[in-house]
Amino acid sequence: MIESSTLVIFGATGSLTRLKLIPALFKLDVDKLLPEGMRILAFARRPWDQEKWLSEVAQMLRALQIDGANQEAFERFRQRLYYLQGDLNDFDAYQKVKDKLENDIEFPTNAIFYLSIRPADFGVVSENLGRSGLVEEKHGWRRVVIEKPFGYDLLSAQVLQKGFHKNFGEHQIFRIDHYLGKATVQNVLVFRFANLLLEPLWNRNYIDHIQITHSETLGLDARGGYYEAAGALRDMIQSHLMQLLALVAMEPPVSMQAEALRDEKVKVLKSIRPIPQNAVHAHAFRAQYTRGIVGTEPVVGYLEEDGVAQNSTTETYAALKLYIDNWRWRGVPFYLRTGKRMAEASSAICIRFKHPPHQLFHATQVEQLRPNWLLLGIQPHECMTLEVQVKAPGLEMKTRSMGLDATYRSDLDEKRDAYEDLLLDVLEGDHSLFLRYDEVEWAWRVVDPILKVWSMEREFINSYAAGTWGPRGTYRLFDRDDQFWRHSLTLEGSDVSAEAY
Ligand code: BG6
Repeated sequence: MIESSTLVIFGATGSLTRLKLIPALFKLDVDKLLPEGMRILAFARRPWDQEKWLSEVAQMLRALQIDGANQEAFERFRQRLYYLQGDLNDFDAYQKVKDKLENDIEFPTNAIFYLSIRPADFGVVSENLGRSGLVEEKHGWRRVVIEKPFGYDLLSAQVLQKGFHKNFGEHQIFRIDHYLGKATVQNVLVFRFANLLLEPLWNRNYIDHIQITHSETLGLDARGGYYEAAGALRDMIQSHLMQLLALVAMEPPVSMQAEALRDEKVKVLKSIRPIPQNAVHAHAFRAQYTRGIVGTEPVVGYLEEDGVAQNSTTETYAALKLYIDNWRWRGVPFYLRTGKRMAEASSAICIRFKHPPHQLFHATQVEQLRPNWLLLGIQPHECMTLEVQVKAPGLEMKTRSMGLDATYRSDLDEKRDAYEDLLLDVLEGDHSLFLRYDEVEWAWRVVDPILKVWSMEREFINSYAAGTWGPRGTYRLFDRDDQFWRHSLTLEGSDVSAEAY
C-alpha cells in the first residue's frame, strides 16, 4: 500500500509538467495507482487561479489526446489538483506551502518536492525548502526529485551536491534519469540476470565490442539556450548512455535492492579507464549538423537555429570509445554515440561477438563468416535479436544470417511512459531507478577531460549534413578495420561497412 502524500511541483507551468508529469499522473490515476487522498500542488509564478489551472490541465491532456472517454476519471483527478501562485525566490511563498502541509487536512503531510525548474534555480529552492523547515521529517516523510543536468562538469556537480546535502539527506533525494524508467532499459537487467544462457559469454573472451547508440531526427526543439551550453556529450552521454553502459557491464548485484544495484553500477563507472587530455582525440569525436534533409523535409543547420551563436562549436554529435579495466571487460571497447538530426531516431545496444576461432568452412563457398550480434532495441523498436549463421537452402554450402527474434511487445500492448514508472517509484520511496550521487560524480570524471579539451578548441568543429548518420571521421575511433557502426537492427545492418558508409 502506497502512503498518501502531497506532490508539490515547482515550475508547474513549464514544459516538463505539461508534457510528462501531468499526463503520467493522470494515467496512473486512471489505473487507480495513485493513493487515496493524494494531492498535487502546482507552484508557479503565473497569476492564475484554481479555475484557470484546471482548464490548463484539461488542455494539457487534450493536447496529448488522453482525455477521451475518461471524463469520469478527469473529474476524480481534478479533486487532487491545487494551484498556488508563488515566486521561487520569495521565502513567504514556502510558508504557504508549509501551512497547507501542516494545517490543512486536505493535504497529506508526507510530501514530495518536484523541482521541474531551471538548474540555475536549484540552489535557491533547496535553500528555501531547508530554511522553511519543509524538509524536516517530523510529520511524515519528505522527498525531493531533481532532473538532470546534475551540474555542468565535475566541479559544478560537487558544488551542487554540497548545496543539496546541506538541506537534504541522500535518502530524500531522487535524481531522475528518465532512461532508467524505460521498460527496455530495465529489461537489460532481466535479460542478463534472469537467463543463465548468456552469462558465460558475457565477457572479454567472447565479446568483441559493444556499441550504445542514441540517434534522433529532431533538432533543438526550441531549446537552443540550454543546448548551446550543454552539447551532446553532457546532454546524452554523461547521463543516459553512461547509465546504459553501467547496466550492460555491471556484475550481478547481491539483490535487486536499490543500494545493491547502485553499488554495482558505481563499480563499473569507477573502472572506466581515465582518458588523459592528450589522448582525447583518440577516444572522442564531436561534430555539428549543417543543413540537410531529414526524411523528406529540408532543415536548417545548427548555426541557423534560434538561440545558437554564429560561431558556436557546441557539438550536436558525440562519439566515445571507453575501456573498462576490470576482470570481465579488460580490452573490450565500448563505443558510445549520440546525435541530433540524424538519419533515424533509434536507441539500441549492439553487442558484437568474436569470430569463431577456426574457419572450418574455408574450403567451401562459405566466405568469411559473419560474427554473431546481439541487438537490444530500446526505442522505437523494443526488441531483442540474436543474429546467428545458418546454412542457406540449396545444394551449395553457403551461409546466411538469421535473426532469432524475441520482440516482446506487440503493437497491441499498452505503452507506458517512463515517467509513470518513475513517479510511482518516488511515491513508494524506491530508489532503484534513481541515481546516487557517486554515480553522477564518476560519470563526470569520465567525460571531464574531454570537456576540458573541447572547450579549449573553439576554432573548429567537424560537421555532418542533417539527415545522415554523422561524420565519416568518427571511424577513426574504431580499434580495427572490421569494426563499424551498426546503424540498423535489421539483418541488412550487419552488412554495412566503413567503406559503404
Ligand atoms: C533528454 C535530452 O534528457 O533526453 C534531450 O536532454 C533528448 O536532448 C532526450 O532529446 C531523449 O530522450 P527520449 O526519451 O526522447 O529518447
